Amino acid sequence: MREIWQEIYPLLAQQIVDDYKIKEGRCVEIGSGGGKLGLELAKRTVLQIYMVDINGDVLKKALANACEARLSSRISLIQANVEWLPFSDDFADMLVSRGSIFFWNDKPRGLSEIYRILKKDGVAFVGGGLSRYISEQKREEFIRARTAVLKDEQSRKEWERLRSPKYFRQILRQAGIPTFKLIPDPPGLWVEIVKDV
Ligand SMILES: C[S@@+](CC[C@H](N)C(=O)[O-])C[C@H]1O[C@@H](n2cnc3c(N)ncnc32)[C@H](O)[C@@H]1O
Repeated sequence: MREIWQEIYPLLAQQIVDDYKIKEGRCVEIGSGGGKLGLELAKRTVLQIYMVDINGDVLKKALANACEARLSSRISLIQANVEWLPFSDDFADMLVSRGSIFFWNDKPRGLSEIYRILKKDGVAFVGGGLSRYISEQKREEFIRARTAVLKDEQSRKEWERLRSPKYFRQILRQAGIPTFKLIPDPPGLWVEIVKDV
């Protein structure tokens, strides 16, 4: 599964650049981990990337990855909880977050913080998935491997519930986000939020 992950970040970054065409300004990555998605975006744009994670140790890894890719001048690292983002209103032209929302304690609160820091016409792309550019064969392989690591029926049901359109709609409604689009990307799901006010 590790090999598939390495393939996913460039594909996802390319999809985001192709779809939103935001190539300059500020991009906040929430729950960046080692910053793989943010670095792939940095390679394709001149965006300044703000990598945010609650865990300081993974940000050290993100810094090492940014130095190795010779992109550290365009990367800022911030240890913070998505529920209390240390950015002013209307800060970000774009916001991305892959594989993190499922771990947030207060998901509506995190989503409303994301909405607050987005600029007018800014775009947030939040959730999980493999990108539409992944081959069907790789997608099936990933789904099989994912199913195998979920230890029992209850874990599988919970994993799927957190990635269901019904659950996403519920937390987005609780966050007070007026318009959004859900984008299925099996076995995951994304939400695209364009701030139009
Ligand atoms: C599965 S990892 C995904 C890492 C990275 N986005 C990737 O795609 O490789 C989830 C990340 O979300 C971070 N995270 C979890 N809860 C968070 C929160 N409340 N605020 C900010 N980051 C959080 C974790 O520390 C972890 O690095």
